[in-house]
Amino acid sequence: MKKRRYPGGKAGFGVYQTIINIMPPHETYIETHLGEGAILRKKRLAVQNYGIDIDPLLVQKWINSTPEKTKIIQGDAVKFLDGFSFTGKELVYCDPPYLKETRKTGRIYRYEYTREQHIDLLDCIVTLPCKVIISGYFSKLYSEKLSSWNVQTFQAQTSGGIPATEYLWFNFEKPLFLHDPQYIGKDYRERERIKKKASRWVNRFESLPMLEKQAIMAQLEKSGVFEKNSFLL
Ligand SMILES: C[S@@+](CC[C@H](N)C(=O)[O-])C[C@H]1O[C@@H](n2cnc3c(N)ncnc32)[C@H](O)[C@@H]1O
Repeated sequence: MKKRRYPGGKAGFGVYQTIINIMPPHETYIETHLGEGAILRKKRLAVQNYGIDIDPLLVQKWINSTPEKTKIIQGDAVKFLDGFSFTGKELVYCDPPYLKETRKTGRIYRYEYTREQHIDLLDCIVTLPCKVIISGYFSKLYSEKLSSWNVQTFQAQTSGGIPATEYLWFNFEKPLFLHDPQYIGKDYRERERIKKKASRWVNRFESLPMLEKQAIMAQLEKSGVFEKNSFLL
């Protein structure tokens, strides 16, 4: 039987790839409003990872499936962020319940968000000393509060299957290097092409005699390619 998608869940085709494809390198990953945590589960783990949701029943479901190096916390997102000791190497991703006025359906979560809660969250995230992404539908409130942030839109579907434009607001320039490049490519075809190319290159490299592999690695190191392209944090 096909698993029912969590409402507003980001596991949809093309959705999690788009979000992961704007994530810059980070040491600590914080996903507030975790739900089923599609992004936390799909992306490469950071050194430390936190998932926060206020719904105790939902948090309970994570008990037997928490990824390594991850803490799942039941609590309020803003309280958690206000109390966290940031070093600047964090990436925060927030996916709050949709603002009521932007919705096509009524109540969908056991814990919804009032307009005041949206305002508190926005006021909190604009002061965070680290990289932050927040997702939602377009609203005047978000676009005004986050007017200095960058925006990317993409097409998704509501839980009822209606096409909808999702917005991502983020407080950094689009990164040259990603935390996790496994999903790069603008659509399925491009992602497949790049995946195939990468595996061809790896296979060709693997089939070389050991000393030739060593010579190539030494040459790459000498050329400074690793320093010039600081791929990893
Ligand atoms: C849009 S859903 C998140 C979907 C998630 N990204 C996924 O892929 O499954 C919003 C979540 O926010 C949670 N939530 C509501 N109020 C909250 C609060 N004050 N603090 C933290 N989480 C809250 C809800 O329980 C719900 O799981």
